[in-house]
Amino acid sequence: MTTSRVAVVTGGTRGIGKAISVALKAAGYRVAANYCGNDEAAQEFTKETGVPTYKFDVADYAACKKGVAAITHDLGPVDILVNNAGITRDGTMHKMDCDQWNAVINTNLGSCFNMCRTVIDGMRDRAFGRIVNVGSINGQMGQYGQVNYAAAKSGIHGFTKALAQEGAGKHITVNAIAPGYVDTDMVRSVPPPVLEKIIARIPVGRLGRAEDIARGVLFLVADDADFITGATLSINGGQHMY
Ligand code: CAA
Repeated sequence: MTTSRVAVVTGGTRGIGKAISVALKAAGYRVAANYCGNDEAAQEFTKETGVPTYKFDVADYAACKKGVAAITHDLGPVDILVNNAGITRDGTMHKMDCDQWNAVINTNLGSCFNMCRTVIDGMRDRAFGRIVNVGSINGQMGQYGQVNYAAAKSGIHGFTKALAQEGAGKHITVNAIAPGYVDTDMVRSVPPPVLEKIIARIPVGRLGRAEDIARGVLFLVADDADFITGATLSINGGQHMY
């Protein structure tokens, strides 16, 4: 493995993103963790891991350009991009407002365009790139109360396959991971009776761990994973076999 490769993880200071940042650093990559809201968690994260953080909103294209420029200045050109940042604004359609829809589409799916558009020219010039987009089991199968989230995550899977075709000739691989229900703040905010029913439907019998997802990212970003592109790796404890 070329240890000098620079990796950016969006939403990289908490939950699944934190586990991905930590795993990449442990494997020898130079890692930049992006975050948007929680300064306290970001400071704690850097203190604990030594991974630098970069605060910008991935839903904002201009902010992504600025943020990636700062990362490139500090660490070098971006070889690996993990589009992990995501939010939920759950609610049934008849109660959902436009803000809930727009926030989830722009943060979860718009971010993939904003970040990929920002790094793709450099990856093409250097003829190397690894992009991993974090989708969701709920983009694959839908979820009651998540038309916004399911649409965004499902969009990520189409986005991945299209960009994989464009990147293939330039040694840029583009893959998706579709996590199931993972033990994070996001999943813990699901009402407990609803969550209990969901866990009962996971054949492995437990929520996923953030590290279960990080393992998949490491596999996909390796230099010698160059024949794996346009794929979706489902990591969901057997809850949905797709
Ligand atoms: N299927 C069918 N009916 C359902 C249902 C389901 N899955 N869930 C709820 N209902 C029914 C309820 O039984 C209820 O029916 P009655 O009125 O007849 O009793 C009705 O729908 C209304 O349910 P709620 O009272 O729960 O409605 P609410 O408006 O208060 O809340 C909700 C709706 C916000 C969607 C809430 O049910 C909820 O938070 N659900 C969890 C959604 C979820 O799984 N989100 C995943 C977050 S984690 C994540 O997204 C990460 C990832 O990638 C996996």
